Amino acid sequence: MAAVGDARTRRATVREDAAKERDANAVTRAAITRHGGTSALIDPVRVDPTRVDPTPADPTLAGSAQVDAALADSALADSAQVDATLADAVPVDSALTDLPLADPAFRADVLAGLSRRPRAIPARWFYDRRGSELFEDITRLPEYYLTRTERSILSAHAADIASLTGPGRAVVEFGSGSSAKTPLVLSAVAPSAYVPIDISGEFLRDSVAELERQFPKLPIHPIEGDFMHRLVLPAALANQPRLGFFPGSTIGNMNAPAAVDLLRAMWETLGEGSKLLIGIDRIKPVSVLIPAYDDAQGVTAEFNLNLLHRINRELGGTIPVSAFRHVVRWNDTEARIEMHLEATRDVSFSVDGCPFAMSKGKTIHTENSYKYGPRDARLLLRSAGWTPIGEWTDREGLFGLILAEARAVPAAP
Ligand code: TRP
Repeated sequence: MAAVGDARTRRATVREDAAKERDANAVTRAAITRHGGTSALIDPVRVDPTRVDPTPADPTLAGSAQVDAALADSALADSAQVDATLADAVPVDSALTDLPLADPAFRADVLAGLSRRPRAIPARWFYDRRGSELFEDITRLPEYYLTRTERSILSAHAADIASLTGPGRAVVEFGSGSSAKTPLVLSAVAPSAYVPIDISGEFLRDSVAELERQFPKLPIHPIEGDFMHRLVLPAALANQPRLGFFPGSTIGNMNAPAAVDLLRAMWETLGEGSKLLIGIDRIKPVSVLIPAYDDAQGVTAEFNLNLLHRINRELGGTIPVSAFRHVVRWNDTEARIEMHLEATRDVSFSVDGCPFAMSKGKTIHTENSYKYGPRDARLLLRSAGWTPIGEWTDREGLFGLILAEARAVPAAP
């Protein structure tokens, strides 16, 4: 794996990223205030990385807007109520001035997350530079069937997918990341334009440059922003039919209410008559599911533990990372894989001057990955106004790729 450069370069990058995030959060807060927190129409080129999480105890992709807006000051007071055994959680004033890199939203999420029971930290904080690199490595692991299975479904059924979508659509990709699967779709559906949306400007710039080489005649309109909210699409797309693309089973990292909110936001962003091609991972035997999130090489463990390193680095934490282990569970009632960080002995540490303690065996919940049966997946889409019109899977039925259409809500019954 490529080293990120010397410590000074790394620090400069982290500082830059933190500054970027701070700017974005400032935009968010302003936008949320302006629009009363609902379906905020935010600047299309630069929108926030957070959203209001209806279920703050779940470490879904949903972020910290709520914590930021409402809990920032009361999180510490709340923590005392949640667990009377916690020592007084009073931030040390000097900690903030010592840590110019600390992102206030990250700090608020971590302090609130370690204070609530069960402990949970939103998954979005996995993705610092190191976390993003590790995630790319996960997608190439032999146990991690998701990425390669989705790719093989896309290439095996490209013609079929194209005939159902029809040519000349603007392809809008939600959370495009490194756009690894994009060429498969773009070369299949003869698009009129491509609109990648991603929170990371760095990722966007790299992937746009690459796609411009591969598709020199295709107009590309990147949007740096958070797809969890309704977005305003570029004016150039005004009269073009749209095809949303949401691969990777990212929808599975949200609980049902958050997933439906997101699918509705996509409906609003794309508009009636649009189509959506979405990848949704399926329920399958635990013997296949668990190794996908707990690989033999320990890459996923490193990815999970990197969150603790990040807290130590950016928030002046003193977490003894070696006293934690990566734990993966299948929660059958919820139909989800859970990732946790479990304390292997009694530990106490501080984050940004706030003291915390965990006894042996207690965990911090860091990620959910919901799995869906074929009918579950279609019901989820219909719950948000998307009518499934096509569906493809691999020979073993590991992964589902669904094409759905944004239809006007039908009159009862
Ligand atoms: N959505 C994918 C999944 O649930 C990718 C992913 C998100 C992931 N967070 C992860 C994979 C954490 C491994 C670990 O599988």
